[in-house]
Amino acid sequence: MDMTGKKLSAESLRRMKSVAPIPMLTAYTTPVARCLEQAGVAVILVGDTVGMVEMGFDSTRHVTMEHMQYHIGAVRRGAPNTHIIGDFPYRSDRDPDTALRNARLLLAAGADSVKLEGPKYEVIHHLVKNGIDVVGHTGLTPQTAANFKQVGKDAAEAERVLDEAKGITEAGAFLLVLEHIPDALAEKITTAVKIPTIGIGAGKNCDGQVLVINDAIGMGDRWPPFSRQYAYVSKTITEAAKTFVSQVKKRKF
Ligand code: KIV
Repeated sequence: MDMTGKKLSAESLRRMKSVAPIPMLTAYTTPVARCLEQAGVAVILVGDTVGMVEMGFDSTRHVTMEHMQYHIGAVRRGAPNTHIIGDFPYRSDRDPDTALRNARLLLAAGADSVKLEGPKYEVIHHLVKNGIDVVGHTGLTPQTAANFKQVGKDAAEAERVLDEAKGITEAGAFLLVLEHIPDALAEKITTAVKIPTIGIGAGKNCDGQVLVINDAIGMGDRWPPFSRQYAYVSKTITEAAKTFVSQVKKRKF
């Protein structure tokens, strides 16, 4: 939200480029969303990472529109005053008309804008033309990547990612996620495009940063090496459960 407690619009987020860094976190549930809103997180991303960090799948490709609608609704109930980005699940953005239909469902579930992965310029253009605010995503794009290695290390790949960033911007996106690319490439893209870049594993010179909430709070059992961890919630839960088990067994509770 902004200084007056109002939800940030896509346009106000776009205008934050080079003015104020944008802190973004993912969330999938009401209580976590409530905490993030209270903490002053500018934008919440209901990412399809939910499939891996909360649902036990080995890939984001198993996430469906129904999953996303459910989680976006939960996050909206916890964070009524925060800009929420709803992620398109795998192939739900496969062509302009399918994407438009599904974008409207994500917005109806509670999202303010939608995010898609990769160089889908025609889809972005069609959504924007129909009044939908779109966030792009380049670099490592987990829905189609063969592995989770850093992208853009060699000159040709770096050029491709830069071109994609420019294409996504020209197609009309208002924000661009840069995932797991070299810091220098992220800096070059940030200078080259007129919309804010939001990095994840892309160095500190992006216009904002996003982390997967489970990585940030240590809720899970493994986290990408580039992620910062601010707490170890899994450990806290295990300790609490152990104490409970012991108290019940000893008839102390
Ligand atoms: O799905 C997601 O949570 C994402 C972030 C990793 C940026 O796309």
